[in-house]
Amino acid sequence: MSIFSQVQITDSIEMIKIRDTYFDDTFKNKINLEQPMFTNERGDVWRMPMVHLAEKVITFDDILNKACLPVLGLESFRDAATKLLLGNESLALLEGRAFSAQVLSGTNGLRVAAEFLHKHLNYKTVYISSPSWRNYDYVFRSAKFENILYYSYWNISTRSLNIEAMLRDLRNARTPAVVVLQVCAHSPSSYDPTKAQWMEIANVVKEKNLFPVLFSPFQGIASGDVDEDAWVVRYFVSNGFEFFCSQALGKNFAFCNERIGNLVCVTKNSDVITNLKSQLALIITGLYSRPALHVASVVTYILNDPQLYDEWKENIKAMYLKCEKVRINLRQALEKLGTPGRWAHITQQRGMFANIGLTKEQIVYLMNTHHVYIRICGRINLSAVNANNLDFVYIRICGRINLSAVNANNLDFLAKAICDTIKSVPANAPQCC
Ligand SMILES: Cc1ncc(COP(=O)(O)O)c(C=O)c1O
Repeated sequence: MSIFSQVQITDSIEMIKIRDTYFDDTFKNKINLEQPMFTNERGDVWRMPMVHLAEKVITFDDILNKACLPVLGLESFRDAATKLLLGNESLALLEGRAFSAQVLSGTNGLRVAAEFLHKHLNYKTVYISSPSWRNYDYVFRSAKFENILYYSYWNISTRSLNIEAMLRDLRNARTPAVVVLQVCAHSPSSYDPTKAQWMEIANVVKEKNLFPVLFSPFQGIASGDVDEDAWVVRYFVSNGFEFFCSQALGKNFAFCNERIGNLVCVTKNSDVITNLKSQLALIITGLYSRPALHVASVVTYILNDPQLYDEWKENIKAMYLKCEKVRINLRQALEKLGTPGRWAHITQQRGMFANIGLTKEQIVYLMNTHHVYIRICGRINLSAVNANNLDFVYIRICGRINLSAVNANNLDFLAKAICDTIKSVPANAPQCC
C-alpha cells in the first residue's frame, strides 16, 4: 500500500471546476468568461505589442547581464515598478523609506508579506473583505495566520458598497490585526470606495492600529490611468502609514503565463530597511530560492523606455475603454429587455470584470440552461465574448465576468440569458462567495 493512500481528495477550487467543465464541453461555439485574462476579438489572450517587442530584444541581447539574480530580484525592475506604484516624486522614495522585492506574482507578494508579518511581528489575525478574492484566505492560512476574519464590503442585495458596515466592522476589529485592502477594481465585486470613503477607511485603520497590506492587481485598468489607480497607495504614504503593497503586474502587462509581481514596503524610518531586507530575503529563500529574470527584464525595458512607456499607458487605456463600452452596452441591453431589477451597478463598477450580482441558484440556472458559466461570486470577463462564440457563454461560477471578453456580437445573447435567468429564478437569497 502506498504511503500516499492516506491522502484525501480535496474539493477542487471552484475556478478549476469551471475551467474543466469548459474544456470538457464539446459545444462548438462555447466561450469562456471565467478566465481572468484580457482577450481579443477572436477570444485569444491578447498580447501587448510592446511586450512582444521587448521580449524579442531581451531574448536576443547577448550583452544584457543574464547572471543569477539576487534573492530580492532585479534591482532595475524593483526601482521602476516601485516608482510606478508610489510615483516618481514620492516622499517615501526620496527619503529612502521604501524598498521592494521582486516576487513571482501578486499572490506570491501577499504570501511573502503574510509570512513576514506572522514570523517577525507575530500577527495571527487578518481581516479581508466580504466577499473577497479567494486567494487571500489560502494565502494567510498558508502563512499560519490563525484567524481569517471578514469585514463587510459589498452588499449583494443592493449591489453596492456597504461603507457604514465596513467602517463599523473595522472599528470593531480584534487587534492586533492585519487588514487587506484592494486598492482598485475590488475582487470580486469590481466596486470601489470613493476617495472620501477611502479617507474614512484610512482613519479607522489608523485609529485601530491595523497593519495595512495593500493589494494592487489592476493598476491602470480600473480608471484607464496608472496614477489615478495608485491614488490609495499614495494616500497611505502621505498619511504616514507603514505598509506592504503587493503589486501584481500580470493584468496590466497582459501576461498570461509569465509570472511577475513586486512587493513594496514603506516604513517610517530608513534605518530599519537593511534588517527588513535581510529577513525578507530569508523568507523568499525558504519559499522559492529566488525569482526569474526574463519577465522582470521585459517590464523594466518598457517602464524605462519613454516611448514604450507612453505606448503601454495608451494600451492600458484602450483595455479600459473597451471594458467601459461593454459595461454601458450590457446595462443598456438588460434595461431594454426589461430585465427585472436595477442594473446601474454594472456601470458603477470598474475594471476588466463586471459582477452582475446573481444568486448561486441563478448562476447554476444560467450554466445549465444557457451554457453561461460564471463564478458563484458573480464575476464575468467582459473581454471574452466574441463573434466566434455567440451561443454558449461561460462565466465563472462566482458570477464575475471579464468585461474585456464581451462584445457587440454576443452581448445580446448574454443579456437575454441573464434576463431569462432573473425572470425564471427568483432571487430569494442573494449570496456571494
Ligand atoms: C482577481 C484577481 N486579482 C489578482 C490577480 C493577479 O494576481 P497574480 O499576480 O497572483 O496572478 C488575479 C489573477 O488572476 C485575479 O484574478
